[in-house]
Amino acid sequence: MRYLTIALSKGRLTDYSIEMFEAIGIDCSELKSSSRKLIMSDEKNKIKFFLVKPADVPTYVEYGAADMGIVGKDTLLEEGRNLYEVLNLGFAACRMVLAGPAELAGKLDSLKDKRVATKYPRIAREYFEHKRRESIEVIKLHGSVELAPLIGLAEVIVDIVESGRTLKENGLVVLDEIAEISARLIVNRVSMKMESERINKIISSLRKQLEKGVVSK
Ligand code: PRP
Repeated sequence: MRYLTIALSKGRLTDYSIEMFEAIGIDCSELKSSSRKLIMSDEKNKIKFFLVKPADVPTYVEYGAADMGIVGKDTLLEEGRNLYEVLNLGFAACRMVLAGPAELAGKLDSLKDKRVATKYPRIAREYFEHKRRESIEVIKLHGSVELAPLIGLAEVIVDIVESGRTLKENGLVVLDEIAEISARLIVNRVSMKMESERINKIISSLRKQLEKGVVSK
């Protein structure tokens, strides 16, 4: 039996992902150790894991270097990779929104030469071009996006809102909802056919755990 390879997102999704796999009887002890090893395995179930930056998870899965992966819907929308999204895992739930100063509510379309700052240029472009049918300049940032409208870099932002605290504490409001975000299980298209039995077993076990509400969110 060959190893099934699973790509996991490094960061906020890591602990939840480990919890999910442990709940279905996959040994993740190597993943939990502080080792610098890049590939970890569960020898009994013939599963290999590796942890990479979230944006790289869909890349590994599309090319088949990983059979499966766990990644946020935000990353999937932004990366636009060719793969199967097979299960909404529910954890790390948040929203992708358009946000800005309250005085822009309802007035955005009349604003000329506007700019949007975001970590998600593809999502922002798609939203403005297809949903609002407005032109806008997209400015890519790598973090602290809420700063942009405060300091005059952009009028609005496209970003993730979880508790809403960052927006509130910076005097910004949600101007529109773009997408519901949460962690998703993704599968390589060829692996889905070649390893359908093992992969479908993992999917149905994870689904059962979700129905039982075993995994915290
Ligand atoms: C994310 C996001 C918001 C914040 C939202 O940033 O980009 O800034 O969390 O959370 P809240 O609604 O609960 O306040 P992250 O913590 O990833 O840091 P970053 O600014 O470096 O992107």
